[in-house]
Amino acid sequence: MDTVIIAIDGQASTGKSTQAKKLAENLKYDYRDSGAYYRAITLYFLDNNIKFDLNITDKILHKINIKQTYEEGQFRIYLNDYDVTDKIRGHKVSLNVSNFAKKKEIRKFVFNQLRKSSESNSLVVDGRDIGTVVFPNADFKFFLVGKPKIRAERRHKQINDDSVKVDIIEEEIKQRDKTDSTREIAPLKKAVDAFKIDVSNLTINEVFNKILQKIKSD
Ligand code: CDP
Repeated sequence: MDTVIIAIDGQASTGKSTQAKKLAENLKYDYRDSGAYYRAITLYFLDNNIKFDLNITDKILHKINIKQTYEEGQFRIYLNDYDVTDKIRGHKVSLNVSNFAKKKEIRKFVFNQLRKSSESNSLVVDGRDIGTVVFPNADFKFFLVGKPKIRAERRHKQINDDSVKVDIIEEEIKQRDKTDSTREIAPLKKAVDAFKIDVSNLTINEVFNKILQKIKSD
């Protein structure tokens, strides 16, 4: 059986993973959140006091085992058998993840894991370089963008922690977009054949319907 790949890339906090999960459930495909891989690796490095300007060797990366599962209607992410689904969304990981995601050894590590997942399963994968680098031949590609202020407000609501101010989140996501789009390896950019959606004035369901419509009409 031929497997199908759907790539959802885009800026930080545009709701890529919300859309990717809904789509995977709707189509009964597997889901891979590539950002969660970078976040879990970042958490591992922070917890073990490994700085991003150090040489990241395969020996270090071999100590990292990341697994994504679907349990009771929820996608969960495990780092060396610990459930880190919530911890990887913390502010500290968000502040550091783009610096680790620039490193070529780390990108290769995630690339290999994602490619392996696609060998036997149809997948919805979200990230920054899925339609450009990881799966350039994906069957469908989407690219989500949005106004920074609206993205920050949505993320603020989601993390539900009043000690983190909206302005700080806005700065962090702008900084992350900048680091992600200006890096040398696999920068954040729209694949020429990706369908772009500006999510600023759309609800989750409106974006989802646009995605489904596009898939069904092609
Ligand atoms: O959910 P959000 O859009 O805020 O971020 P994420 O998808 O969890 O990704 C976190 C970070 O990982 C991004 O800002 C990128 O630095 C990095 N990343 C990447 O470099 N390549 C990917 N395919 C996915 C994420």
